[in-house]
Amino acid sequence: MKIISSEIVISAVSPKQYPDDGKPEFALVGRSNVGKSSAINTMLNRKNLARVSSSPGKTRTINFYLVNKEFYLVDLPGYGYTKVSKSEKANWGKMIETYLQSRKNLYEVILLVDIRHEPTADDKMMYDWIKHYGYGTVVIATKSDKISRGNYQKHFKIIRKKLGMSATDKIVPISSLKKEGVDELWKNFKGLFAVNDLSITTEPALK
Ligand code: GTP
Ligand code: MG
Repeated sequence: MKIISSEIVISAVSPKQYPDDGKPEFALVGRSNVGKSSAINTMLNRKNLARVSSSPGKTRTINFYLVNKEFYLVDLPGYGYTKVSKSEKANWGKMIETYLQSRKNLYEVILLVDIRHEPTADDKMMYDWIKHYGYGTVVIATKSDKISRGNYQKHFKIIRKKLGMSATDKIVPISSLKKEGVDELWKNFKGLFAVNDLSITTEPALK
């Protein structure tokens, strides 16, 4: 995938702020601190477009990143962050649910899990939920630099089993630290563009 432009269009807290240009959207969901914002930066070859933090709970709004003026990567606030109040948690849940349930131009929701750990009960719940809505064909296993390549399959097996993934669903390992796995991830996006009949240019020319 050739990235010629990427920009944040809006950090939204309510549906009326979502972009209304109808361009296709692809959302990233997962536990707080799993590496969603980092993954977006890595995919777009940007250092600090999406705000990253070692303390969980960095992303608290729904952030829409426009790529090549053609489609959006959408960064959602992470769940499972314990240090927030009940009402704040409920708010986040509602914000995510409203977005995921009502978005017509949302073509895929990608769950991110940490390659090292068995997915949590929250991950499983989120995966079941996105599957129910017809998403979840691609799962990203983050922080792949933390284990050796020889152990990938073992960890994939644990992730697949816990989430109850079907054999055709993909797991893509990425390391935002080492900038690895991005080509494979974009390859999967190209597959998503194709199955959804989206005319997104993967090799756009500079104008
Ligand atoms: P929230 O915004 O709280 O939901 O978190 P997030 O999922 O957006 O995570 P974020 O990208 O902010 O990353 C959290 C921490 O994990 C940061 O300290 C990152 O530097 C680190 N991190 C992210 N990706 C990787 C990776 O591939 N490898 C390693 N080693 N660390 C990573
Ligand atoms: Mg984030």
